[in-house]
Amino acid sequence: MTRLATKYNAINLAQGFADFSCPEELKQAASRAIYEDYNQYSVTWGSPVLREAIAAKEKQYNRIDADPEKNIVVTCGTTEAMVASQIALLDPGDEIIIFSPHYENYAPDAVISGAKPKYFELKEEDGFSIDEEKLKRAFNAKTRGLVVNTPNNPTGKIYTKKELKFLADLCNDYDAICFTDEIYEHILYDGNEHISIGSLSSMRNRTVTISGFSKTYSVTGWRVGYTVAEEKLSDAIKKVHDFLTVGAPHPLQIACAQALALPETYYRNLRQEYQSKRDLLFSSLERIGFRCIKPKGAYYIWCDYSGIDSHSDDLMFATNLVKKNGVAGVPGSSFYGRNSSSGNKRIRFTFSKKIGTLEEACLRLEGSLSKKAQAPM
Ligand SMILES: Cc1ncc(COP(=O)(O)O)c(C=O)c1O
Repeated sequence: MTRLATKYNAINLAQGFADFSCPEELKQAASRAIYEDYNQYSVTWGSPVLREAIAAKEKQYNRIDADPEKNIVVTCGTTEAMVASQIALLDPGDEIIIFSPHYENYAPDAVISGAKPKYFELKEEDGFSIDEEKLKRAFNAKTRGLVVNTPNNPTGKIYTKKELKFLADLCNDYDAICFTDEIYEHILYDGNEHISIGSLSSMRNRTVTISGFSKTYSVTGWRVGYTVAEEKLSDAIKKVHDFLTVGAPHPLQIACAQALALPETYYRNLRQEYQSKRDLLFSSLERIGFRCIKPKGAYYIWCDYSGIDSHSDDLMFATNLVKKNGVAGVPGSSFYGRNSSSGNKRIRFTFSKKIGTLEEACLRLEGSLSKKAQAPM
């Protein structure tokens, strides 16, 4: 959709990256690191300075105790963190449960690892809740992994402590590892809090907590992420990571350590700014006739467009939106397994953009689509 947006000069509310600058301090920290000659490989599992900073943040924010030497691996983004972890810890024949709708990479990561992705659809009509009895039946002797993503892309769901405890019990009963993608951990609304499943005592030895710098600090191009896991799990991840990429960009790792030293006000402003952007886009989409779920976290809005167009499938709707209305979103089916039709009539928009960009997108959509929604079918 990004390529299509470029081709048709549409506003790209498809891909989740900022169209505004990252913090000035980080630009300076990155330039300084280059001038100070952090220009050769770092230790493969990450610069000690960054690992120390991550360990402190994990303790304070995620309530996870991590030894920088034994439990942390710095990777090329959350993307590499997830695939390296799955390659390291899953074997051919294993099954990994993935909640849908989900971020697109998890299933290919499983396939690359030789494992079988097993999709489990959350109940959209009930705020994307988990059907507990159904999930118990989905776990079996082959289940080796479970992917959790909180706050969630694309729905904005935040997993509650009760839900995480239920998942923890299942992982313990079936000796499964939880791969938890927490890249949106700081992007939370309406006073919601983030809980890491790895902070539950029963999950300490069977969780790979994954996060990164792309979203919180608006530096998706830097490609720095990390895993936090028990020593044996980390050892396996270190080996795969070494052979995949050797290491993340060294000067940017040094700058990321500076990012973790930003004051609390940085995070408060980030939340407030994204909450205003969420509210702006949400109200506009609802006015037009989309039925949307107000996200509790992350920076996407999941919408049902059937009140505007009951005929087109999601790919056709998203394609027409780019070509005719000048705004790009992601078709809902991208977030479900191939055999599911649950993503049809759904589209995801991001609000990780400047207010001006969002206002222009709303103008374009309200100008062209509102009429359609009001027209007799
Ligand atoms: C849930 C989720 N995980 C991971 C990523 C990619 O993160 P990174 O840039 O750290 O590789 C994204 C990007 O959109 C995402 O939404």
